[in-house]
Amino acid sequence: MPPIQPATTYERGADNRLLSGRLYSRPDNPNYEQAEALLTRLEGGAGSALFSSGMSAATAVFLAMRPGDHVLVPKVTYWALRNWLVGWATDWGLRIEPVDMADPARAAAAVRPGETKLVWIETPANPTLVITDIAALAEIAHRAGACLGVDSTFATPVHTQPLALGADLVMHSATKYLNGHSDVIAGAVTTGAANDTWQRIKAVRAQAGAVLGPFEAWLLLRGMRTLFVRVEAQSRSAQAIAEHFLRHPRIEAVLYPGLPAFPGHKVAARQMRGGFGGMLSLRVKGGAPGALAFIGKLRLWKRATSLGGVESLIEHRASVEGPQSATPADLLRLSVGLEDTQDLIGDLEQALG
Ligand SMILES: Cc1ncc(COP(=O)(O)O)c(C=O)c1O
Repeated sequence: MPPIQPATTYERGADNRLLSGRLYSRPDNPNYEQAEALLTRLEGGAGSALFSSGMSAATAVFLAMRPGDHVLVPKVTYWALRNWLVGWATDWGLRIEPVDMADPARAAAAVRPGETKLVWIETPANPTLVITDIAALAEIAHRAGACLGVDSTFATPVHTQPLALGADLVMHSATKYLNGHSDVIAGAVTTGAANDTWQRIKAVRAQAGAVLGPFEAWLLLRGMRTLFVRVEAQSRSAQAIAEHFLRHPRIEAVLYPGLPAFPGHKVAARQMRGGFGGMLSLRVKGGAPGALAFIGKLRLWKRATSLGGVESLIEHRASVEGPQSATPADLLRLSVGLEDTQDLIGDLEQALG
């Protein structure tokens, strides 16, 4: 097991030379090396950088752009990132354009050759599981001279390797599946090439300082050791739950890319291997009151935000996102954990009554 190295600074010799080659642990932290190397291998990249959260990882990519740059972002994306993009990033000078990324033709029409520097996608997207065609978007971005960044938090490297499909950057909220135990907030970016954009992303971390603590980096590596067994089991369970509730009289719709009738299924089947992930959403009959009454009766599922841990979580997404939310009021987002699949189905059944 690797040691945890809490040192923040490194000694110089009598001749003023750095004895270990390191200066200070904000720019240069030995605790990150193994987790970053593992993620780089899993994603098939040229390098990775850990961050203090998924948000600091994602925002580092946007901050690596320059004020005035045109950037395409998805209409459906993790709400806190969307708020930051339309608020903070716009004030800072990025020209943010939200696009329906499920339709590559819309992205192709919105991209501006020479002006668009970054196309950002999230697939499957939080919380409606909308699927974006990574290979198609990579081609559109590259034709315009832009790079493609993918939030692959829901897919994980178990199911999708965006770099192999043409993406330039992959981002994870490592808080979720990579760590997998709901006890670390962390983020990561992996690059396909050690280019200028990558140097700028690393400089955002080193200079703005959104660094992960040594203990958190150690826990993250420990969590990643079981990534494949956890995610494969969670995906199998999610598929079974999605299929079970497909024709339930109290369920309006099941949103899950593993269902053949789901709009993005064909693309998902092409770019996801070995399963479709542990996240699904249910639209419940009776609007927000029906959805809230239903989750109030659950005994095994925990009512909490976040996802990707070993315990199954459910949340009424619109309550979390607030009055500006575009999420349907009857939508419940489910993060399937490692409990017995039939127990999870049984609890949902009893609560639906
Ligand atoms: C898809 C996605 N991206 C990014 C984030 C942000 O990650 P963090 O909470 O680790 O900052 C989240 C958090 O829920 C997420 O679901």
